[in-house]
Amino acid sequence: MSNDPGRFQTIISHCKEYGFIFPSSEIYEGLAAVYDYGPYGVQLKRNVRDHWWNSMTRMHSEIVGIDAAIFMHPATWKASGHVDNFSDPMIDNRDSKKRYRVDHLIEGYSEKLLQEGKIEAAETLLKTMDELLKENDFSGLRQLITDNQITCGISGTGNWTDVRQFNLMFSTRLGSIAGESDEIYLRPETAQGIFVNFLNVQKTARMRIPFGIAQTGKAFRNEIVARQFIFRMREFEQMEMQYFVRPGTEMDWYHSWKAERMEWHRSLGIPQEKLRFHDHSKLAHYANAAADIEYDFPIGFREVEGIHSRTDYDLSRHQQFSGKKMQYFDPELNKSYIPFVVETSAGLDRIILMLLSEAYQEQQVPTADPGLTDTRVVLGFPPVLAPVKLAVLPLVKKDGLPEIGRRIMDTCRNAFYCIYEEKDSIGKRYRRQDAIGTPFCVTVDHQSKEDGTVTIRYRDTLSQVRIPADAVRTLVLEALV
Ligand code: GAP
Repeated sequence: MSNDPGRFQTIISHCKEYGFIFPSSEIYEGLAAVYDYGPYGVQLKRNVRDHWWNSMTRMHSEIVGIDAAIFMHPATWKASGHVDNFSDPMIDNRDSKKRYRVDHLIEGYSEKLLQEGKIEAAETLLKTMDELLKENDFSGLRQLITDNQITCGISGTGNWTDVRQFNLMFSTRLGSIAGESDEIYLRPETAQGIFVNFLNVQKTARMRIPFGIAQTGKAFRNEIVARQFIFRMREFEQMEMQYFVRPGTEMDWYHSWKAERMEWHRSLGIPQEKLRFHDHSKLAHYANAAADIEYDFPIGFREVEGIHSRTDYDLSRHQQFSGKKMQYFDPELNKSYIPFVVETSAGLDRIILMLLSEAYQEQQVPTADPGLTDTRVVLGFPPVLAPVKLAVLPLVKKDGLPEIGRRIMDTCRNAFYCIYEEKDSIGKRYRRQDAIGTPFCVTVDHQSKEDGTVTIRYRDTLSQVRIPADAVRTLVLEALV
């Protein structure tokens, strides 16, 4: 397990310096746990979203897509259980006025124990915490914090309030005239937009069970302890798929989706040893089985995706609250029932952070001076996910070289994202492309005018090969499959 906060900070700085991710409204000192994606970040995010979307809808003919609204009828969240259950136990430090999620506070202390080599004490602490959380024993949790003399990182004191529950949903008001408005919520998960549309989709797309509905979109949670960059945000993006199955078959589907989702993360170029499952012992109010896929971030193993067997909880509750039937007629069994649901729920931002953590490398490379080396920073994204696939770089800004470069751009830009740069020395331009993870650079020089060839430079091997200019498009496209 990694523990390299220095590397984590370096990646955060790199994201800002090279146009991947900026703090939101930075000129006003930012907004806690809210981030904006810059020009390369947004391309990377799009590529990952498309990769997920295609793996769900294109590779599975029994999965179709949907794009539901963020705002939903407030009864949705009563039915789903979020109004009553979507809360975390919190505790406040009276001196610093800082609020902590109880499990995070205790987990933080157990990590400290681990660093001190007190492995048994750390394990006992976490085991006791899990039991108390399962029982919703808030006074027991408070006692555990006091007994272990856990203090606030800011005030350094153990002057704690009681443990209380805080709902994580953001609310706002619909309508502009006071008194006529209703409180509504910003969705805390995209899944409910799928559940309430289950029959609309099933009927219009003529789906037969088992079938899935996929969706990507923003979700909002008023996370109390929101830190660790884009890992835990208040506004983030989910990529969710609800798979509707016959009651009694859900465990088979749960296991098969667990395996398929693990394989998908490996398809992003993540080595298996940096991925693992974490099976839940404490289940959410809607689940009868649940597991996380965790990645070994520089701050340790953390969740990137959840796979949940949600039973028929959501559809049954919507049937109960709306008074509308949420049943499916199964022609093979010749009977109607409420389907069971297996859900795969991935956090797009966390996958972006995983890819950045995996891709970021500082390498020693030879310079033009024999025997000397230099450090280059390179993001080794798989070409299919890289924000920019190709950079076209004329050696000089004159002698007809820019015109050749622009012609290459014109042949490639409708097939993949490419950029043109003529400013700075060629060495500096290569370094800049390495830093944003561009897998291919093409240099146009005077020989290009003579024989129509260009030099293609490979990001990962640094090798340079002369090829005909009109072969560039095909060469890059072949690397994107
Ligand atoms: N529909 C089920 C659901 O929402 P979840 O485990 O609460 O399940 C699914 O969330 C995924 O959403 C997580 O695995 C994580 O990747 C992402 N996620 C959850 N909260 C997040 C946050 N505050 N910031 C960024 N990503 C988050």
